[in-house]
Amino acid sequence: MSDKIFQEKIDAEKKIEPKDWMPEGYRRHLVRQISQHAHSEIIGMQPEGNWITRAPSLRAKMILLAKVQDEAGHGLYLYSACETLGVTRDELIQQLHDGNAKYSSIFNYPALSWADMGAIGWLVDGAAIVNQVSLQRTSYGPYSRGMIKICKEESFHQRQGYEIMAEMAKGTPEQKEMAQDALNRFWWPSIMMFGPQDSDSPRTGNAMKWKIKRQTNDELRQSFIDKTVPQAEVIGLTIPDPELKWNEKRGHYDFGEMDWEEFWNVVNGHGPCNKQRLAHHKRAHDNGKWVRNASQAYAQKQEKILKS
Ligand code: 3HC
Repeated sequence: MSDKIFQEKIDAEKKIEPKDWMPEGYRRHLVRQISQHAHSEIIGMQPEGNWITRAPSLRAKMILLAKVQDEAGHGLYLYSACETLGVTRDELIQQLHDGNAKYSSIFNYPALSWADMGAIGWLVDGAAIVNQVSLQRTSYGPYSRGMIKICKEESFHQRQGYEIMAEMAKGTPEQKEMAQDALNRFWWPSIMMFGPQDSDSPRTGNAMKWKIKRQTNDELRQSFIDKTVPQAEVIGLTIPDPELKWNEKRGHYDFGEMDWEEFWNVVNGHGPCNKQRLAHHKRAHDNGKWVRNASQAYAQKQEKILKS
């Protein structure tokens, strides 16, 4: 097959499956995006995992526990989708540990209070939903099917976060202040999750041509802002952007300039928690080696029994 016939297939909205011919560039782009997506799900368990033992009630603890476990499953689906492209889990983890693979910048910010659990669920999972609902229509079959499964769980993640923020916003003045502080710290890093502006995005061209992405970074960011501002107003919290204003003509919210220096600083490994997150992942990976060895030994034994 040729690039031309491949592109005709993409343009005809046909899904590409693992055994189909694909240009090496398409395969590499997918390995990059899906593996970084998977790394994000797993590293993203850390900020919330830190608060499971400090949840303010048994109900809150059960909800947070369920959410963090969901994220591990999301990572599993995505690593499995990535492995269909001929790359091994070990290679992907090594790329992360060697600093050759990224994960979402948002997880390099500290979770300082219980209200941060609300802000993360409401804003980070809210942003992930906008991005992932769009990715359900990605051209690569295993990624698309993984997204459909993941999106079913994300709405619970967003709702539980929003419920924490709503409860605190209508609680004592100290609770409301804690919720507003969490919004102040997580608002801009959450809209940075959508990546650089389209004009500065080296991958958007191919991502849209090959229908890996169905909407651009700026389109998704705008959609998230338009959805989220009214939610903040309903619970009486203020979005920390003095230039935020509804633009009747555009039918969207106008918003302030993002701090792109901060964005690239965090993406390139110099954020508040980058070193801590990676060190934690490496420690957990090393401590879990015996589990991987045991499951591989069990699988080999089962294989021998089946063959004998
Ligand atoms: N954090 C870290 N890296 C980022 C980034 C961010 N917020 N935004 C962009 N980058 C990286 C890109 O990965 C790319 O790196 P690479 O060239 O080394 O692969 C580089 O910066 C250039 O960015 P581009 O905009 O050109 O790249 P993309 O077009 O791929 O857009 C993206 C970046 C929006 C992250 C896109 O890859 C994407 O949509 N990925 C899938 C969704 C995803 O990964 N989401 C992460 C959060 S998952 C999550 O929140 C889990 C939830 O359950 C909590």
